[in-house]
Amino acid sequence: MSSFGFGTLTMALFALVCCSGSDEKAFEVHMRLEKLIVKPKESFEVNCSTTCNQPEVGGLETSLNKILLLEQAQWKHYLISNISHDTVLWCHFTCFGKQKSMSSNVSVYQPPRQVFLTLQPTWVAVGKSFTIECRVPAVEPLDSLTLSLLRGSETLHSQTFGKAAPALQEATATFSSMAHREDGHHNFSCLAVLDLMSRGGEVFCTHSAPKMLEIYEPVPDSQMVIIVTVVSVLLFLFVTSVLLCFIFSQHWRQRRMGSYGVRAAWRRLPQAFRP
Ligand SMILES: *[C@@H]1O[C@H](CO)[C@@H](O)[C@H](O)[C@H]1NC(C)=O
Ligand SMILES: *[C@@H]1O[C@H](CO)[C@@H](O)[C@H](O)[C@H]1NC(C)=O
Ligand SMILES: *[C@@H]1O[C@H](CO)[C@@H](O)[C@H](O)[C@H]1NC(C)=O
Ligand SMILES: *[C@@H]1O[C@H](CO)[C@@H](O)[C@H](O)[C@H]1NC(C)=O
Repeated sequence: MSSFGFGTLTMALFALVCCSGSDEKAFEVHMRLEKLIVKPKESFEVNCSTTCNQPEVGGLETSLNKILLLEQAQWKHYLISNISHDTVLWCHFTCFGKQKSMSSNVSVYQPPRQVFLTLQPTWVAVGKSFTIECRVPAVEPLDSLTLSLLRGSETLHSQTFGKAAPALQEATATFSSMAHREDGHHNFSCLAVLDLMSRGGEVFCTHSAPKMLEIYEPVPDSQMVIIVTVVSVLLFLFVTSVLLCFIFSQHWRQRRMGSYGVRAAWRRLPQAFRP
């Protein structure tokens, strides 16, 4: 085979393998979403398009409510409404009998509205332990949430959350610590941060109301015994003096009653016997 012949064959093979029907088969499907993260019940628009000149069929697959707003041969524009949970949307087109599709994940978010902080106990002795608990109801997605437990502006503990069950939308973080004297001079608080930047959203920050811890010096046992003894003795003296007062007053009353008795007897004495 001449080199010319080989070249022609190669060219023919190349044309057959690579470029035959390239117009029909090499097409793309694109999906453009207004946003990838939405609030519950929110609506958003989706545009499904293809590079195929004359697609046979095309559309959007979703379990959510959809309305076709506009369409042309190469694209379809939809309105999706009433989203309630994380979902996957699929755009698909069929071109010369071949189907292609493209998917996108849409997540539902709820920013932290209320952040509750609990100190347990609120009155604690130096050296004794206490617990800080932070609770945030109705927040999602949990894997974008960070809860920070703060003393003043210092972070004592930071907690992140993995992918949780979709039904679980409450986040809690707890931290136990030993009470120090200076803990009584700071406000404790909890900061909830929902960072949706990586999903094309915003960052939401919500603080709890500040709470203070009441710190007291623990009383040593020997000192406690002395205090209890002194208080007991004082109480005994008080009770004794009250009792003595009572007895003396009774005694005095009886003596006065006695003198009246003498006078009454005198009165009862017949006139004749009196001087
Ligand atoms: C949908 O996307 C296509 C391709 O990017 C674009 O040409 C078309 O204008 C878009 N439609 C709407 C309603 O945005
Ligand atoms: C929106 O979704 C909720 C729950 O998913 C459903 O109960 C409600 O009927 C829906 N509303 C509309 C207008 O489709
Ligand atoms: C959608 O989420 C699933 C898992 O939930 C993941 O496997 C997939 O890669 C995601 N798709 C996109 C386009 O991000
Ligand atoms: C703690 O918070 C209260 C209420 O916001 C505030 O009045 C007080 O000054 C704060 N104390 C400290 C030490 O920051």
